[in-house]
Order: sequence, then structure tokens, then C-alpha cells
Amino acid sequence: MQQFNDTSSILALLASRKSASAKAMGAPGPTTEQLAEILRLAVRVPDHGKLSPWRFILWEGAARAAFGDVMKARWQALHPDHAEQTLGVVHGLFLRAPTVLGVVSTAQEHPKIPLWEQQLSAAAVCMNILYAATAMGLGCQWNTDWVTYDAEIGAAMGLAPHEKLAGLIYLGTPTAPLEDRPRPDAAALLTRWQPS
Ligand SMILES: Cc1cc2nc3c(=O)[nH]c(=O)nc-3n(C[C@H](O)[C@H](O)[C@H](O)COP(=O)(O)O)c2cc1C
Repeated sequence: MQQFNDTSSILALLASRKSASAKAMGAPGPTTEQLAEILRLAVRVPDHGKLSPWRFILWEGAARAAFGDVMKARWQALHPDHAEQTLGVVHGLFLRAPTVLGVVSTAQEHPKIPLWEQQLSAAAVCMNILYAATAMGLGCQWNTDWVTYDAEIGAAMGLAPHEKLAGLIYLGTPTAPLEDRPRPDAAALLTRWQPS
């Protein structure tokens, strides 16, 4: 099994791509130039109606620990009985990688384009980020975690009430070989429709 991703061709990348774990992701993260390039490639996705129904939030450097304070305070309010050790894990969530990129779905009701299609486009943005970062030799993982589903954390991130976090993409340099997992048998998922 390949420990790293094969970036020798587009098909090789598609066939070998696997996530790095946010738990094993060290510095460096993407450079400013790499990040700009990742975002440029990220938005090159199908987008019904050309609505650009997504935006990004970046956590780097001290902002990660500062947001850790926010997450810890919220966790403490939700689970007043939890021990300091758990609070430490919560505080350190964004400190696991040098760069944390939030992908926000800004989907809104539209006369022609269903909300679902706008949200799917945000998922495509997340996937493009994984491919772009992987092609650059970076490690990356698409996570959500409890913070994605907590309204108060969303407000602290600056999300408007209609916005949803599609993903938190952790970006950095893997500190351990990448682990693959068994992949589904795609052929078994295929049915061929026939008239009855
Ligand atoms: C929307 C979404 C949210 C995810 N959230 C988490 C998460 O919070 N924690 C986690 O360990 N993996 C999460 N995953 C799974 C990882 O992104 C990834 O699929 C997993 O680490 C396996 O890696 P692979 O990309 O090589 O299949 C999520 C995946 C998706 C699509």
C-alpha cells in the first residue's frame, strides 16, 4: 500500500488520494502563495446558476488558540462536568494543523436553483481543496466535528443564520505515513436501470 499520494498524473492522484489525519499534521502548512492557489482552484467547481454559494474562513497562527478559547468556553457551558483534560482537547482542536480552512455554504432560497444544489456545490469546493492540496504534496483532511453543528460556535465564526459550514479542512505536513482504508466496491453500487 502506498504511504503517500501518487501525484504523477491526474488519474494516479484520483486513484491514490487519501487523507492525512489532522492528529498527525505538522508544519509547514501551505504558503501564502499555495493557499491563494488552493482557493483559486477550489472555486473552479460546477455551480448551477453561477451563484458562487460559498466563502472561506481561515485560521492560522495565534487565531487557532484564540478560537480554541471560544470552543473551550462553549464546551464548558454545554458540559460543566467535563474534566480539564477534555477541555484541553477541545481547546487544541485547531492547533492540530498549521492551517484550518473553513468552507462555508452561503446557499439561500432562490427562485430557480434548489438549496440542495447550492449545498452540493460547496461539497465540490471541499473536494477540490483536497485534490489541490494533495497535488501540492500537502496533507489534508476534511472534518466537521461538533463545532460545525453548534449555533453559538457558528456565530463566533461569523456565520450568518442561513450559512452552514460545509467543512473544516486541516492542511499541513503529515508527520506519519498516510493510512488508507478499504474502499467500497464501486461495481457493487451500480444498478443498470431498465424499463419494467
Ligand atoms: C462532510 C464530512 C465530514 C467529515 N468529518 C470528519 C470528522 O469530523 N472527523 C473525522 O475524523 N473524519 C471526518 N470525515 C472523514 C474524513 O474526511 C476522511 O474521509 C477520513 O479521514 C478517511 O480518509 P480518506 O479521505 O482517505 O477516505 C468527514 C468527511 C466528510 C465528507
